[in-house]
Amino acid sequence: MTEKQLRDLMGGMTLEEKVGQLVQCGAGQFIQNSMEITGPEGEMLPAEELNRVMGSVLTFEDASQAKALQDKHLAADRNKIPLLLMLDVIHGLRTTYPIPLAMGCSFDDDLMTECADMARRESAACGVHVTFNPMVDTARDPRWGRILETNSEEPLVNARMGAALVRATQGNDLSDPENVACCVKHFAGYGAPEAGRDYNTVDMSERQLRETYLPAYKACLDAGARLIMPSFNALNGIPSVANKWLMNRVLRDEWGFRGVVISDFNAVGELVAHGMAENLKEAARLAMEAGCDIDMMQNAYYLHLKDLIAEGAVSEEMLDAAVLRVLRLKNELGLFENPYHGADEEKEKAVYLCPAHREIARRAAEESAVLLKNEGILPLSRTLKKIALIGPFARERHLVGFWSRPGAWKDAVTIPEGIGAILPDCELVMEDGCGAEIGDADGSGIERAVAAAREAEAVILALGEPEGDSGEGRSRAELTLPGLQTELARRVIAANPRTAVVLFNGRPLVLTELEKVAPAILEMWYPGTEAGSACARLLFGLANPCGKLSAGMPRSVGQCPLPYNRMNTGRPKPGPDGVPVPFSSCYLDMGNLPLYSFGHGLSYTTFEYEDLKLSGDTMQAGGSLQAVVTVKNTGEKAGKEVVQLYMRDPVASVVRPVQQLIDYRKISLAPGETAQVAFTVTEAQLRFWNFDCECVSEPGMFELSTGYADHLKLTRSFRLI
Ligand code: GLC
Repeated sequence: MTEKQLRDLMGGMTLEEKVGQLVQCGAGQFIQNSMEITGPEGEMLPAEELNRVMGSVLTFEDASQAKALQDKHLAADRNKIPLLLMLDVIHGLRTTYPIPLAMGCSFDDDLMTECADMARRESAACGVHVTFNPMVDTARDPRWGRILETNSEEPLVNARMGAALVRATQGNDLSDPENVACCVKHFAGYGAPEAGRDYNTVDMSERQLRETYLPAYKACLDAGARLIMPSFNALNGIPSVANKWLMNRVLRDEWGFRGVVISDFNAVGELVAHGMAENLKEAARLAMEAGCDIDMMQNAYYLHLKDLIAEGAVSEEMLDAAVLRVLRLKNELGLFENPYHGADEEKEKAVYLCPAHREIARRAAEESAVLLKNEGILPLSRTLKKIALIGPFARERHLVGFWSRPGAWKDAVTIPEGIGAILPDCELVMEDGCGAEIGDADGSGIERAVAAAREAEAVILALGEPEGDSGEGRSRAELTLPGLQTELARRVIAANPRTAVVLFNGRPLVLTELEKVAPAILEMWYPGTEAGSACARLLFGLANPCGKLSAGMPRSVGQCPLPYNRMNTGRPKPGPDGVPVPFSSCYLDMGNLPLYSFGHGLSYTTFEYEDLKLSGDTMQAGGSLQAVVTVKNTGEKAGKEVVQLYMRDPVASVVRPVQQLIDYRKISLAPGETAQVAFTVTEAQLRFWNFDCECVSEPGMFELSTGYADHLKLTRSFRLI
């Protein structure tokens, strides 16, 4: 349809019908038990009453439901305006790839593109028009359960991977039934809640918000994302969904965003609980005025916008602008001509879990795994005949992580299945040893596990946190392995030192006690459908670990939040970390540094950083220079390495971090092979938000280093003039 046709269509709609376009219901209200509830529902009206006028539906199961929902609505809608069908496809639809925090450890934008492309194919066949993805809330506090949903503690990684996901998901033409629109979330600063508690208040300077938390959303909008979702949290005193500074001043005026803003689940209704609105009617007014177009899973708009307009509290022009944005999105998706979009039952059968998708998922699981420690244990020999597979995750199939689609865990490959596929003759003696639930104090299984360990040639100890313990509404005040898992590890490793620990978790954990006893630790996160295959291939050397931590792992929850790009302070602690010096910025009882730093990850081979050369020792304003890193594979195995480039601006008009990742590149090297990795460093990469909230670079010395956070090497300097 043309713009004029859309405006004519809207011109013929009643006030109620226009408001209906801004209402989103759950499919579960129409098709029982077909919707996982992702939050406390508002007082939704009976579906039948809304079906006639509503504009969009949240969460449904498959192509046939998508078609049924569309048919049911169009039969009742006088204007024949198709529904928008939206779904949370966060890390795969039926073929699940690793959680986003794990994908961030791959430091591989192309791999992100491959996974997003796979998810797009499956989502389109399922009938998805809009996916509530990417989530690019930069997070530095593992107590926050949704850290699993973002790629990294570093906004640069969130920006690059989020933008890659948007491009792969939306393609070049949204009317192509194979393409799906993206909704970036959660705008803004949701990843920085006080005390790491989900939905808690976020309060920071505008400068910090612009420096660290806004760039990734902007990168995804610049990549073309058509929708954005304000976050639940209050931001500097005003909940995002009613935050005019954020949604009008920054999003619409500064960034020029013309797409659709959709609230989070009942977030408009939650303005009452926040204490921003006396009642639902006031909440509707505040959200509408802030520019929230769609009211998800609440009836604030449906019940009150008509009256607010009649009373002159909300202008009909404002309503029309919101309705037009929704109609334009439907039009761009081609829904008026093809309301089913890509929904196709036959295609679903063909693409779901197809070999090509499983291969992508397995590769992603391998490249996201991080070898944290290895003292000659891994890889395990493929000649082993008897292995003890111990721990609460030894036989676990729930390895896909939060936000995977309901039931996707059933398709996951377990560790024994993965090992069986490559070592069919190896005897696996399996013992849980203990549980993984928070507070589980039942140690009755430990003795049997210790006995099994003693009898085996080697031990694989599969530990972690249950899938349901990280994700939305899953914040933790402690970050150690839940239950008696660390005690189990102590006892098992004492019985058989040839033990490799494999971890399945959705957040950085405090592994300080485990690290004291475990000779090898492989972090698998929640690897998705091919969990067991990837885990087995990594453990037995058919794949070589290459992941690097996308978020540091603290020594204690008492260190949190613990961003890698910390400031030096006026009293940086002299001497080695962990040795307190009075009157310096440190703890008496612990070091300042994490147990494992951002960017850390081992391989089965070794890499030597031989040189870092700059193309010059000055850079003009607006100019650039080349930084060339020479890396050699000095080991016996082929491997991949993430070459990281860090910058430091030692003197500026505001304090600047001691280290800041400004670029990364993943390379493959055969044994003995050397590569020269060239980075173009531009003046734009040296910019920061100054005290007056201007994005500037300032002349002076800059340092470039390679290595990884807290372990920088080969530092070279240049002057910006
Ligand atoms: C949830 C989440 C959001 C999700 C939405 C719809 O509460 O905050 O990320 O997209 O509801 O399920």
